[in-house]
Amino acid sequence: MHAKRPENKWRAGVLGATGVVGQRLVQMLGNHPWFDLTEVAASERSSGRTYAEAVRWHLDAPIPDAARGLVVKGLDLSLDCDFVFSALDSSVAGSAEEDFARAGYPVVSNSRNHRMDPDVPLLIPEVNAAHLDAIPLQQKNRGYDTGFIVTNPNCSTAGLVLVLKPLADAFGLEKIFVVTLQAISGAGYPGVPAMDIQGNVVPFISGEEEKMELEPQKLLGKWDGSRFVDAGIGLSAHCNRVPVIDGHLECVSIGLKKIASLDEVREALRNFEVDAELASLPTAVRRPVVVLDDENRPQPRRDVDAGNGMAAAVGRVRECPLLDVKLTLLSHNLVRGAAGAALLNAEPQAPPHPERVSPRRTRLPLNRAAFKPGVLPAGPPP
Ligand SMILES: NC(=O)c1ccc[n+]([C@@H]2O[C@H](COP(=O)([O-])OP(=O)(O)OC[C@H]3O[C@@H](n4cnc5c(N)ncnc54)[C@H](OP(=O)(O)O)[C@@H]3O)[C@@H](O)[C@H]2O)c1
Repeated sequence: MHAKRPENKWRAGVLGATGVVGQRLVQMLGNHPWFDLTEVAASERSSGRTYAEAVRWHLDAPIPDAARGLVVKGLDLSLDCDFVFSALDSSVAGSAEEDFARAGYPVVSNSRNHRMDPDVPLLIPEVNAAHLDAIPLQQKNRGYDTGFIVTNPNCSTAGLVLVLKPLADAFGLEKIFVVTLQAISGAGYPGVPAMDIQGNVVPFISGEEEKMELEPQKLLGKWDGSRFVDAGIGLSAHCNRVPVIDGHLECVSIGLKKIASLDEVREALRNFEVDAELASLPTAVRRPVVVLDDENRPQPRRDVDAGNGMAAAVGRVRECPLLDVKLTLLSHNLVRGAAGAALLNAEPQAPPHPERVSPRRTRLPLNRAAFKPGVLPAGPPP
């Protein structure tokens, strides 16, 4: 299988490849123009079997051919890959990701363990690309050579922050009050028992409200050269699990620093677009926020795939009697909130090039500039 791999693709390994997020990663990597899936790893329950035998596949699309016959490995520090995508259960992700970074692998993580570390970027490229500047300090602090860790946010934080970003830029943010209605796929597999969720709503998701109240502060804050400075927004979150398969819906009230009309708010959301260079990355979309006009949208079943699952769909922008404006947003928890987010965090560091040089063999260029509008590197890493 490896003999057929185009030489100009980067080799990707997925840790936690048998899980709900891991499967999405495997699916998206199966058809990726720049990455070639070469390794899958999971727990001892799965290792030693082929991927097709080990995985309980949940997606409608079939298992990609490139993945079916791969033998699932354990958390083996000699995986044959240039990038490691981690979708590990948080009980093991913390130390495993550190081990891989120490062994020289760039680790692009979905797990919560390192998101709030003071030297680890919590990244949404459209929002806070400059936070990648923390990586050299992370490598120095931790004695990593070519390896490092980059994380994407919690699945409900991802959609929220994407929608808040243009409002923060245009008007400033003072207070956010958010109530979520989160899909069951957000709990992994087997997740919430059917007896608990069928025809029901569960008004508690362990640790979720804390993550939603903390992560946006880092994402919308700044890297000042030596530390992350929080955005200092007042934020209160209520998180609920609802019987929906995919897609987290969020009802948000927003207090702005600057007075704005509803039309100005809608305009700011509609006009939010990324630079052409960032938009040209395989997993990116030019407009990561889609504004819907129908009064009964967004809906998970109808709108979860907006922008190939990478956009947040927003509707019901209206006045809020308590704060300034309120709206409803929806984002795909497994794509924008997990697998797609991880791919997008890796792509600017793995541009296509004719002579691939493994980031593990040379210090990864980190192409931080690639995240900044208009500066995607054109050539091979040095
Ligand atoms: N679901 C979401 O919407 C979402 C969104 C954002 C982030 N996340 C985060 O992404 C991670 C994965 O979530 P998920 O929903 O995909 O969970 P999941 O379905 O429970 O999958 C967990 C994965 O971790 C592996 N694993 C468990 N224990 C292990 C061990 N001791 N050694 C090696 N591998 C082990 C499992 O392998 P086996 O199959 O062999 O047990 C499986 O591949 C979590 O940290 C989660 O918080 C999830």
